[in-house]
Amino acid sequence: MDQIIVQGNGPLSGEIPIAGAKNACLTLMPATLLTDQPLTLTNTPRLSDIRTMTALLQSLGAEVASLQDGQVLALSSHDLTSQHADYDIVRKMRASILVLGPLLARYGHAEVSLPGGCAIGARPVDLHLKAFEAMGAELDLRDGYVHAKAPMGGLRGAVIDFPLVSVGATENALMAAVLAKGTTVLNNAAREPEIVDLAVCLRAMGAQIEGEGTGTITIQGVDSLHGTTHPVVTDRIELGTYMLAPAICGGEVECLGGRIDLLAAFCEKLDEAGINVEQTARGLKVSRKNGRVRAVNVKTEPFPGFPTDLQAQMMALMCTANGVSELEETIFENRFMHAPELTRMGARIEVHGGHARVTGVEKLRGAPVMATDLRASVSLILAGMAAEGETVVSRVYHLDRGYERVVRKLSGVGAKITRLREVGHDE
Ligand code: EPZ
Repeated sequence: MDQIIVQGNGPLSGEIPIAGAKNACLTLMPATLLTDQPLTLTNTPRLSDIRTMTALLQSLGAEVASLQDGQVLALSSHDLTSQHADYDIVRKMRASILVLGPLLARYGHAEVSLPGGCAIGARPVDLHLKAFEAMGAELDLRDGYVHAKAPMGGLRGAVIDFPLVSVGATENALMAAVLAKGTTVLNNAAREPEIVDLAVCLRAMGAQIEGEGTGTITIQGVDSLHGTTHPVVTDRIELGTYMLAPAICGGEVECLGGRIDLLAAFCEKLDEAGINVEQTARGLKVSRKNGRVRAVNVKTEPFPGFPTDLQAQMMALMCTANGVSELEETIFENRFMHAPELTRMGARIEVHGGHARVTGVEKLRGAPVMATDLRASVSLILAGMAAEGETVVSRVYHLDRGYERVVRKLSGVGAKITRLREVGHDE
């Protein structure tokens, strides 16, 4: 397996281009199933998760062409041949469940493998399924698959009250509702920018949607949708990740395409920690004021709160902050797996359930560490960039799921980072 080698190397300087959002693209791509017209997505990120979603859609008979070095995807489900999403693909990526809503809405039936859990938690899909049942679908869970069937005449509009905020369930229900008969109201809906991006794309395809970005989304079903060309929104998690590079190493980096409105709660925490964030015409310029970073407390929450997907990276910053910081993870039940790895580098972290207490130390020391999930992997790289000596990160396939060309982007601002590719191992 490939490894990434990082040497601590002092302050950074330069600019990092931020790609289109993985988590927007993974819900925009299944939207092709809602129409027989072409859907073109631009500003798409070059990631293994996108290749997995591509393979899944192609297994259903959809056409997906990757153009312009992976930054444009041309999709069409004009000639779909199957509504069966197989376990072999779904088990690789939970977001595969997002084909269920569109398949039910357009074809009236679907067989989709249950995704199974993952390293950060059980991650059930009960809220997705309850939403479809509220819209009249009959669901039969057997052999590890959801066998779903819409009522005669298709899905019906419904009022759906989500008991907890779920990004995926909101996206699946939204895509099912756009072709349902009548009005659907999603209460306690997720408000993430990726959901707003999906709604903007669906509206451009002819859907009637109001309220995206708030806790209540109202959809008037239409008979059919047409195609469109849609630019994927900037990836706020990649953005926040790279904003932490100068915060941890010192210096100044401009993250091209960055927008403060995508990460307001995160930027407030950086300011509290003594990090300078400035919106420029090209993106977000981030620099560390002189002196050590101040320890701050963080509690992850659904948008617009502090993103759970930036908790591991923020912990890496707090490891060398001045003081004690308390991090509370409220979204997933097991999302501190980066803590023992950071401890190997000399960090002082105590984890109790959903709480982690980090006591800042002057410097971390490089060490061999192991990536355990997508966001934990990049937090170890960030920590290694400011540590004394060499850090070797293994299992970097986790990284390839959500960060395109990370070695090139970080080297470009002065990090000493290389990737050792295992001979013949196709990443
Ligand atoms: C999305 O996952 C993102 N993935 C995650 O990013 C992100 O961490 C998460 O939202 C929260 O922001 C994609 O968009 C592809 P949820 P999702 O449904 O939709 C529970 C990354 O690193 N829940 O909002 O799966 C669930 O267990 C990934 O890019 C149910 O109980 O997250 C969790 O505790 C990691 N039943 C909480 O809700 C359900 O039916 C929030 O999950 C659905 C969710």
